[in-house]
Amino acid sequence: MRHKDLGNTCVLGLQWGDEGKGKVVDLLVEHFDVVARYAGGANAGHTVVIDSDRFALHQVPSGVLREGVMNIIASGAVIDPAALLGEIESLRQRGVRLDGDNLRISDRAHLVFPWHRREDVIAEGAARAGDKIGTTARGIGPCYADKAGRRWGIRVCELCRPAGLRERILATCAYKNALFRAVYECRETFDANAITAEYLAFGEQLRPFMCDATAVLNGLIRQGKRVLFEGAQGALLDVDHGTYPFVTSSSTTNFAAGAGVPASAANSILGVAKAYTTRVGRGPFPTEQAGEVGDIIRERGGEYGTTTGRPRRCGWFDAVATAYAARVCGPTHLAIMHLDTLSGMRELRVCVGYRIGKKIVNDFPADVYSLEEAEPVYETLPGWSGEIGDCREFSKLPDEARRYVEFISARLETPVRIISVGPARDQTIILEDN
Ligand code: IMP
Repeated sequence: MRHKDLGNTCVLGLQWGDEGKGKVVDLLVEHFDVVARYAGGANAGHTVVIDSDRFALHQVPSGVLREGVMNIIASGAVIDPAALLGEIESLRQRGVRLDGDNLRISDRAHLVFPWHRREDVIAEGAARAGDKIGTTARGIGPCYADKAGRRWGIRVCELCRPAGLRERILATCAYKNALFRAVYECRETFDANAITAEYLAFGEQLRPFMCDATAVLNGLIRQGKRVLFEGAQGALLDVDHGTYPFVTSSSTTNFAAGAGVPASAANSILGVAKAYTTRVGRGPFPTEQAGEVGDIIRERGGEYGTTTGRPRRCGWFDAVATAYAARVCGPTHLAIMHLDTLSGMRELRVCVGYRIGKKIVNDFPADVYSLEEAEPVYETLPGWSGEIGDCREFSKLPDEARRYVEFISARLETPVRIISVGPARDQTIILEDN
């Protein structure tokens, strides 16, 4: 596989998450020395299948499954220490080595606290049906809100300052207890002493992993080490560019800000998209197929959430939404995932425009009202009948499958580098640049 010419690479999703980034990172990682996660937290779920072993990674970067790779959780991510330590432990039990030599976490990353998780759950429960976001309930939104609000955010570096941490937790607990009582009529209170003791213990366990991630990362780049920036969620869930407010709370597209490196640090951007579209949680999804087509895709593609187990909403490939995401992210190459899931469908549809009111638009609208109203304008392409899971060369794919991939590539004006035809590492077709 000739990925050397890609240089430092950012792998990010061009849809609403779950595009298959975990598999792509795992495939490419043999060509890299470092994998850096730059956004999100325990909401993410990256599935990697090695032989018959299935690994569901949440906060830990996908490079941990390869020996000799340094994995960094950078400053733009948020860290839930209890969940992270649990994930480290369960990986160790499955024989994965994890120590300060192959996993580092940024001392500047913000920490998820119990009040973040509780607020995530209570606020979702209290919201009117139409206002629910459908979060993963991992406290992500409230944690990023405290980070941006500055008064109540607490970072990894503070775990090493017992007196300061105690004071901060005491003040934050007093505020959160009053808030939860007044706004949500919640009687349960947070016990500052117990939480301080718990987080100091987490700090002790996490200490070997803590580092100044920008110093480590930029130092490795200067030494000529090859870095893969691993995105979480997808561009359409980006807090700035996604289908707001039905988004996550991080900047999913901005690897430079999250990792603390200059934008010029990545030579290539690999945009990952499924051959169809899925979404978990609420929010507009113009090409959603609630009936038979959606069910076929869900069952064939195993479209159930890695983090929450929720059935994913499924639909046709949306070239309007994905081209918009590509404009924001600037992929130099594409990875088209789950092509095999579409085998056996007589015809395939790709959305190339939206009918909104009397107009047909080709640009992705900002407001969710237009998106809810949008009726997709489809191009119909012929499907193929045989299974393609054993196919390893583009030229060996059925004509219709090739045409389908070429159609997507043309709509996104980006060459395809990877086609996935099954969950296993080797069920992959690699295309070289022309
Ligand atoms: P949160 O990130 O838990 O706040 O959830 C906000 C939205 O992002 C919800 O629609 C979630 O389903 C979605 N989301 C968060 N993480 C992922 C992911 O890793 N894959 C797909 N969707 C995600």
